[in-house]
Amino acid sequence: MAQETLSITDNRTGKQYEIPITSGTINATELRKIKEDPEDFGLMTYDPSFMNTASCRSSITYIDGDKGILRYRGYPIEQLADTCTYLEVAHLLFRNELPTAPQLTDWEGQIKQHSFIHKNIEQLIEGFRYDAHPMGIFISTVAALSTFYPQASKVLDPEVRRQQIRRLIGKVPTIAAFAFRHRLGMAYVYPEDDLGFIENFSSMMFKRGTKKFNPPQTLIRALDTLFILHADHEQNCSTSAMRGVGSSLVDPYSATAAAAAALYGPLHGGANEAVLRMLDQIGDVKNVPDFVKKVKAGEGKLMGFGHRVYKNFDPRATVIKRLADEVFEVTGKNPKLTIALELERIALEDEYFMSRKLYPNVDFYSGLIYQAMGFPVDIFPVLFAIPRTAGWLAHWQEMLIDPEQKIARPRQIYTGHDKRDFVPMNQRH
Ligand code: ACO
Repeated sequence: MAQETLSITDNRTGKQYEIPITSGTINATELRKIKEDPEDFGLMTYDPSFMNTASCRSSITYIDGDKGILRYRGYPIEQLADTCTYLEVAHLLFRNELPTAPQLTDWEGQIKQHSFIHKNIEQLIEGFRYDAHPMGIFISTVAALSTFYPQASKVLDPEVRRQQIRRLIGKVPTIAAFAFRHRLGMAYVYPEDDLGFIENFSSMMFKRGTKKFNPPQTLIRALDTLFILHADHEQNCSTSAMRGVGSSLVDPYSATAAAAAALYGPLHGGANEAVLRMLDQIGDVKNVPDFVKKVKAGEGKLMGFGHRVYKNFDPRATVIKRLADEVFEVTGKNPKLTIALELERIALEDEYFMSRKLYPNVDFYSGLIYQAMGFPVDIFPVLFAIPRTAGWLAHWQEMLIDPEQKIARPRQIYTGHDKRDFVPMNQRH
């Protein structure tokens, strides 16, 4: 039987090493015993941007990027998106199982109970300028929650963790909606007990006056589905930030704010906003070939295309494209859809994109749907952050109870000066 080991010969010394292979990986610290002389630090791996490094074991989300597979706790994303609610999926992410009917009722009740925010938090949001980006408000407000719940710092206590998880899942839609209304100068709408999670969020966003907000069920269902698709995506940039920051044992509000900050970037969750701005910039279908030419010449990127892991198709994008048809039937077609479809058509036939395995990702069409639903473009990253909070917290919890995890602290290859002596100010040139 083949041995589950890797044999290495160090040609500097002629020495041979046997390194165990477990789960298709070698433990990087095993390489430390490979030394040129006993004083050596030992061999390290160099992997900027973690192209080929597993930083943890995780049982939450499985992705096969070549086959376009995404599963939460073993369930294919397509099945969850078709049949579940976001809160059912959040339960699955935290507790490893889909809830029974009584468990779901209990879970929904707990989340609802935490949907209100303290008056002082409302005043904090008031303090932002009228044109503040809602994601900036969101990040700062989530961080500020740590000052309201100082007991949250006891992150090794399972009951404390459970409490903060419910609080965060419950409060993020309220914070998002308040950030949105603050910009418009509209009075805040508080959560209502008789509304579900998605209905409540929609009502806090769009309700006017005292009339009950009653959007078409197709739109509520579409938003629920979008939240499911965005709930987790294993070790992406923001989840790695959550794990990295959380590994210092800081409270979950501070760690979630850090994760949200990572999500804000245009290469990650900010891409949905960037796609819409790109479509605006293109302006007309006739300008698409010129735009693609510029992208190929290195003058900018085709936003919403490409993925670190998916090199075939993004299964979320497939669900979203179908969803777009259902939503546009209710709202009317987003006029930018024609530009997006033409961009996709040209890019998928073009050698540049084909050879680099660049396909539409989750953000390519999600923004068009959000816009058709009435969400302004700069709230898009916040719409990503609300459901991803479940994924961040599931990973945070998993990291804290994993005995193999310690404070995240990568190594570096030092490229600076060798030791040199201090030069007094009057002798410097
Ligand atoms: N448009 C044009 N060219 C691209 C694009 C794009 N969207 N994405 C990658 N490329 C090119 C790169 O320039 C590079 O070309 P080269 O080999 O000639 O240098 C090649 O494809 C490989 O790309 P990398 O940047 O090495 O791929 P990486 O895995 O590091 O990046 C990323 C992945 C960040 C998603 C990238 O594809 C990108 O910037 N896409 C646009 C932003 C976007 O849509 N982000 C959302 C991702 S999904 C999410 O986070 C929810």
